[in-house]
Amino acid sequence: MDKIRIIGGRPLKGQIYIGGAKNAALPLMAASLLTDEPVHFRNIPDLADITSMAILLEHLGVDIGQGMDIDTTGQLSVPTPLMKFHAHHIKTTTAPYDLVRKMRASILVLGPLLARMGQSVISMPGGCAIGTRPIDLHLRALEALGAEITLDEGYVHARAPKGLKGTTFTFPLITVTGTENVLMAACLAEGETKLINVAREPEVIDLANCLVSMGAKINGIGTDTLVIEGVDRLSGTTHTVIPDRIETGTYAIGALMTHGDVTLLNTKLDMLPTFIPTLQDAGAIIEELPNGLRVSSTGRINGVDIMTEPYPGFPTDLQAQFMALMCTADGASMITETIWENRFMHVPELQRLGANIIVHNASAMVRGTKKLSGAQVMATDLRASVSLILAGLVSHGETIVNRVYHLDRGYEQVENKLAACGIEIERIKGEPHEPEDKRVA
Ligand code: EPU
Repeated sequence: MDKIRIIGGRPLKGQIYIGGAKNAALPLMAASLLTDEPVHFRNIPDLADITSMAILLEHLGVDIGQGMDIDTTGQLSVPTPLMKFHAHHIKTTTAPYDLVRKMRASILVLGPLLARMGQSVISMPGGCAIGTRPIDLHLRALEALGAEITLDEGYVHARAPKGLKGTTFTFPLITVTGTENVLMAACLAEGETKLINVAREPEVIDLANCLVSMGAKINGIGTDTLVIEGVDRLSGTTHTVIPDRIETGTYAIGALMTHGDVTLLNTKLDMLPTFIPTLQDAGAIIEELPNGLRVSSTGRINGVDIMTEPYPGFPTDLQAQFMALMCTADGASMITETIWENRFMHVPELQRLGANIIVHNASAMVRGTKKLSGAQVMATDLRASVSLILAGLVSHGETIVNRVYHLDRGYEQVENKLAACGIEIERIKGEPHEPEDKRVA
């Protein structure tokens, strides 16, 4: 397995091009199942999770290809790569364990398959490093739409032989992929569906906008209530995936942490409404640009408390990175995680680098220290991995981050992007079949 080697101590200075959002691209790709016409996407990132979703869709019968077109939606008309999906003939409605276990977001094919084909059998995704990750709310909402659902031998069996029927459903708690799954299903249900207490993440809005361009009738996009008037069929479209706000926030943290000066291109400030002011409180100078933002440092890092919450609150997917920042702050920071029950897996690894962190239940008290020192570390999830890379940027000497395959699920070319900004960083190629739990340290 590959490792990343970093020699800390250099400022992050230069330009970084932000890719398309992984968590927007995954549901958008699943939405291609809703129509027998071609659906084309610009700005799909080149990531392991995208490959996993593409393999699953191909298994279901979707033809996938590449192409180029001229994107005229931005300021410049530039030739842009396209990823093309065509679900003209769905050959199976079963998503087997081997394909689903690699990526929990595979559950996103359930709603579209059920709505278009009247049935679907999907392996239960199971838990992962950050929590138990139940899908009960996806299933309850689909049942409210008239699906018959049974669980058998680790598989969800869903049937709606007479089609789905519009209804009102209130999510008892906010779920991002749950909202996306049910929204996609409701587009082809008969009559009106009202979904209350839905997720308002930019990725949900991007999906809804794409569905509208396919002919769906959706009101309330961007609010906590979506009203969907079902249609008989959806058509093809071409859609540009929104920029990755978590990648944006990650490199913005890197700029402040190293007292650097970075221009993040092809991204937007308004997708991070709580994070940006928090980073400014922590000492960042942030300037909005026509096609992105510039992040530099006041020369000081202040301790700031955060609590993760659904959008527009502080994103859980930036919690680990913010904790890495707080490890070198002047003062203390209380970090409270309210979304995932086990998302402090990076704490013991940051401690190996010399961080002063005490965890009590869902909160971590981080006392800033002047000096982190390089060590061998590893992480069990994507955002934890990148938090260790960030910590490595300011650690004295060499930091080796093991198990880089987590990173490759969600960060495109992280080592190349950082190296181009002056960081001493390289990927060390490893054995492909090294056991997953082997610790190098
Ligand atoms: N929950 C339930 N029942 C459900 C669904 C969710 O109890 O049926 C609970 C979860 O256990 C959790 C909370 O609701 O406590 C929120 O979970 P949510 O369903 O919103 O998470 P998700 O849709 O599985 C997406 C992102 C995650 C991100 C979360 C929260 C995708 C593909 N994944 O997951 O991204 O952390 O929303 O914002 O969109 C990542 O990219 O690193 C990542 C983990």
